[in-house]
Amino acid sequence: MGKIREENGKFYPPEDFVEQAYVSSREEYEKMWKQSVEDPETFWGEIASELYWYKKWLKVNREDFAKGEIEWFIGGKTNISYNCLDMQIKKGRGDKVAILFQGEPEDDVVKLTYKEMLKLVSKFANVLKKKGVRKGDRVAIYLPMIWQLPVAMLACARIGAIHTIVFGGFSAEALRDRILDAGAKILITANGYWRSGKTVSSKATADTAIDLCAKEGHTVDKVIVVKRLDNFDVPMKAGRDTWFEDEIAASDISDVCAPVWMDAEDPLFILYTSGSTGKPKGVLHTTGGYMVYTYASFKYIFDYKDKDIFFCTADIGWVTGHSYIVYGPLANGATSIVFESVPTYPNPDRFWQIVEKFKVSIFYTAPTAIRALMKEGDQWPAKRDLSSLRLLGSVGEPINPEAWLWYHKHIGGERCPIVDTWWQTETGGILITPLPGAWPTIPGFATLPFFGVKARALQPRSSADQPAVDAPVNEQGELCMERSWPGMMRGVFGEPERFFNTYFVQQPGFYFSGDGAIRNEDGYFRLMGRIDDVVNVSGHRMGTAEVEAALNSYPAVAESAVVGFPHEVKGEDLYAYVILKTGFEPSDQLKKELVAHVRKEIGPIASPGKIQFVPGLPKTRSGKIMRRILRKVASGEIDQLGDTTTLADPSVVDIIVAGRQ
Ligand code: PRX
Repeated sequence: MGKIREENGKFYPPEDFVEQAYVSSREEYEKMWKQSVEDPETFWGEIASELYWYKKWLKVNREDFAKGEIEWFIGGKTNISYNCLDMQIKKGRGDKVAILFQGEPEDDVVKLTYKEMLKLVSKFANVLKKKGVRKGDRVAIYLPMIWQLPVAMLACARIGAIHTIVFGGFSAEALRDRILDAGAKILITANGYWRSGKTVSSKATADTAIDLCAKEGHTVDKVIVVKRLDNFDVPMKAGRDTWFEDEIAASDISDVCAPVWMDAEDPLFILYTSGSTGKPKGVLHTTGGYMVYTYASFKYIFDYKDKDIFFCTADIGWVTGHSYIVYGPLANGATSIVFESVPTYPNPDRFWQIVEKFKVSIFYTAPTAIRALMKEGDQWPAKRDLSSLRLLGSVGEPINPEAWLWYHKHIGGERCPIVDTWWQTETGGILITPLPGAWPTIPGFATLPFFGVKARALQPRSSADQPAVDAPVNEQGELCMERSWPGMMRGVFGEPERFFNTYFVQQPGFYFSGDGAIRNEDGYFRLMGRIDDVVNVSGHRMGTAEVEAALNSYPAVAESAVVGFPHEVKGEDLYAYVILKTGFEPSDQLKKELVAHVRKEIGPIASPGKIQFVPGLPKTRSGKIMRRILRKVASGEIDQLGDTTTLADPSVVDIIVAGRQ
């Protein structure tokens, strides 16, 4: 493959890449994009026709942002598991590997072909049916990164059950909250898994969560446990807990299961994500639009071809894994890698070793991983043969130019285009991204909207009467979408008003993303991070209010305020200002207790990197915390605190600055 050409800070895709790409120029993109937004009926209708529909839709789309109502492929009936499995076999891919599982132990590899996946999924769907699971029931999944996870997801999808996957790093309390909110009566978990040479028990956490649910009056009456680890005993409760392996091997379990034909707008899954209040939101995605959008975005953005081997390093517990390890790749008939472990074990070349071993051609990861591996030195990728790679991707947070350039040089060999893909749990799929053969990229810029996406960087508005105005070129605005796209979330599970209030009020008539963005002269978007009270720690999204609620529930804490601050590897980290109750003294021991408490309440991903005990917080006279000041102090920008005279007690700022951690 040819080299990437750099000119004035722009990186042009190699000619041979361009020649084989689905979209090979910006003009071609502009034409397609124009049609996608002006005539979605034809554009999305044609793409959707590449998939199987049991009953064709009557109308492609109807939406009313004034009410927060969105529908796609209205009246259509389909099944995503049928498209991801049966249809691939019909297209001749039956013996192609669908899921390529690499466990933490090097020799622990399971390759499942499309035919094998269909049998496993059908069996497990029949197991779920035997357990009484029906269309619309919620199934909680608390599994590590093992091949049984996509099997469980597709089995739910096959029978119309709504899966809600809880990331394995969440604590028992966080798992409880999600099970309760979703009202799940059945939980799928594993006895444990490998993590950096040690074993971790998912079942122990799951048991605690189930006990906590019982205290709230909710019974989880069926637990299916994958025997991931050998010789790893976990207590099994008779009548409630059974082994996955025994269930699918039972003599009454057939390996054939007819799919339930789902209405395009029937729910597919709920995935909890953090917002600006203490309670996570159950982001609801439906069947038809999500399927079409993950299918199309995977195909065009990763320029996916049949011979590619795709490796996305995300955890399936996050949306990236849902859309780009499972649904998008399988709907395209791809081979998708599921990797159990971490990038640094046993050595910081594990990703590169996997790329070499399986001849990965498309690699998709997060900037935090790139930065962490960059710190380990160039010798690690240099030892590996990375010549199979032809395209790289980045997701989860802004990628800093230094990391971008390292990725480009040391992983991409200066020949692989990089797609910096911006999206969210809410968006279902990638919204702003380069199309890798179509235009030059600039490090730090996610570039242009995908098909069907009308993105704008708008000036803040104080009321609906004010017109929506774009921020001037190269000035920050609020990233919003003018219309819906098929993969867009359809609601917050159980909280219809929250959906509308969170996304459609800030910029009336638009979907408000919560991110800041600028647009340059080329129309390229550069993402500037969150403008709400959400922080991105190592690409994990965390609501500061959630962490505050956890801190405040500790007996010694009177009040707290949590903000983000820049971190070299994690992108951002959490800084907690804590006011203690009278009678409690600040100490390092207490800091440790607070960290342990947050880990217990939410999980390790929420533990604050820094804690500062303060006598008070900077508040306005109406009692509102001035977070702007707290952010500046946390970031060390103490000479840019701005006007503090409007504070109820300006002197507290000096104390906070003096005690900065
Ligand atoms: O702030 C943006 C950031 O991640 C947020 C969404 O987080 P989550 O719902 O957990 O989904 C992450 C994976 C899709 C966004 O609001 N973000 C995601 N991708 C990028 C990004 N920020 C900058 N550049 C990106 N490429």
